[in-house]
Amino acid sequence: MPSLLDPLTLRGLTVRNRIWLAPMCQYSVTARDGVPTDWHLVHLGARATGGFGLVMTEATAVVPEGRISPEDTGLWNDDQVVAWRRITDFLRAEGATPAIQLAHAGRKASTAAPFAPSKGGPVDDAEGGWTPVGPSAEAFPGLRAPHELTVDEIAGVVEAFGAAARRAVEAGFDVAEIHAAHGYLLHEFLSPLSNHRTDSYGGSFENRVRLVVEVLDAVRAVWPDDLPVLVRLSGTDWEDDGWTIEESARLGALLREHGADLIDVSSGGNTATAVNIPVAPGFQVPLASQIRRDGNVATGAVGLITEPAQAQAILDDGHADVVLLARVALREPAWPLRAAHELGFKRDDAPYPPQYERGAWR
Ligand SMILES: Cc1cc2nc3c(=O)[nH]c(=O)nc-3n(C[C@H](O)[C@H](O)[C@H](O)COP(=O)(O)O)c2cc1C
Repeated sequence: MPSLLDPLTLRGLTVRNRIWLAPMCQYSVTARDGVPTDWHLVHLGARATGGFGLVMTEATAVVPEGRISPEDTGLWNDDQVVAWRRITDFLRAEGATPAIQLAHAGRKASTAAPFAPSKGGPVDDAEGGWTPVGPSAEAFPGLRAPHELTVDEIAGVVEAFGAAARRAVEAGFDVAEIHAAHGYLLHEFLSPLSNHRTDSYGGSFENRVRLVVEVLDAVRAVWPDDLPVLVRLSGTDWEDDGWTIEESARLGALLREHGADLIDVSSGGNTATAVNIPVAPGFQVPLASQIRRDGNVATGAVGLITEPAQAQAILDDGHADVVLLARVALREPAWPLRAAHELGFKRDDAPYPPQYERGAWR
């Protein structure tokens, strides 16, 4: 069984270890132009110098109306390419793999940061918001009513993911992750709770997964053959009659056939009413495990993974190929360096930048 510090090769890319930084919105583009700032360089850069193998950007919108908040990053123009390039150059120089999460927020777009006075509430037009879009004209509870996408507009979304992926290559990213989780646009199409279409994008499993497969095909068409593409799924809606883990495993296998290299397995986010979510350390690991086993595809586990021994056990038990860390990495940017120490690795085998060696755990 691999250790957390063992490299992982996907296609022609070797990531230095299996401790990956999960995507995390920073709501910090104060100019509201989608261009990442010094905040993003420092935030992501600190986790690269902290030893993470792969450093993933926040959900980065492929079109302006696909931003969760007006302060999200984007990748729909060349100014954004230039700004991201500076960041990917730094991450790579520090030995980390630069990865971007490509996203469209769908009906959960046009909201405020969770730390804004409205605590993530809707942003109206007068405050710089916009009408969101979705598979059906039904609002997420408490958010703005979306416009139902036409079939032509769906084709535009697919094209936008492809164009953003092309820009991501130019910007120096080695890995693209397609965000199809958490109740954002692609997940909204997957789930029968948010997709009430009667055309070829709604109803049957084949129809509900059509958009995410088309998006993957569009991204793969421009992504270098020797570099990996990941997809983040919500493994379940945690709702009766919602998107299920069985469907996720079936989709995982289909995405693998279409060139996805790893499924990053989260859950929930598509309803305001999900109950019985068994929130506890590692609570989403069984979802990653089932998709890995039944979908025969590599997976990443995420969600309340905070301790090195816990993370190592996930790999030892064959539940996932990598772990992704989010909140613990906000308070501990160099978590991988602590993990290396606690798991008994020598300093020379841990991913210290030379500038930090004198501060090594001992
Ligand atoms: C501040 C913050 C921002 C987040 N933004 C994103 C995001 O942009 N895309 C995404 O897929 N998940 C996002 N998440 C979810 C995390 O990637 C992760 O799945 C979740 O926090 C569970 O992992 P944890 O227990 O290690 O925090 C965010 C989480 C936090 C705390």
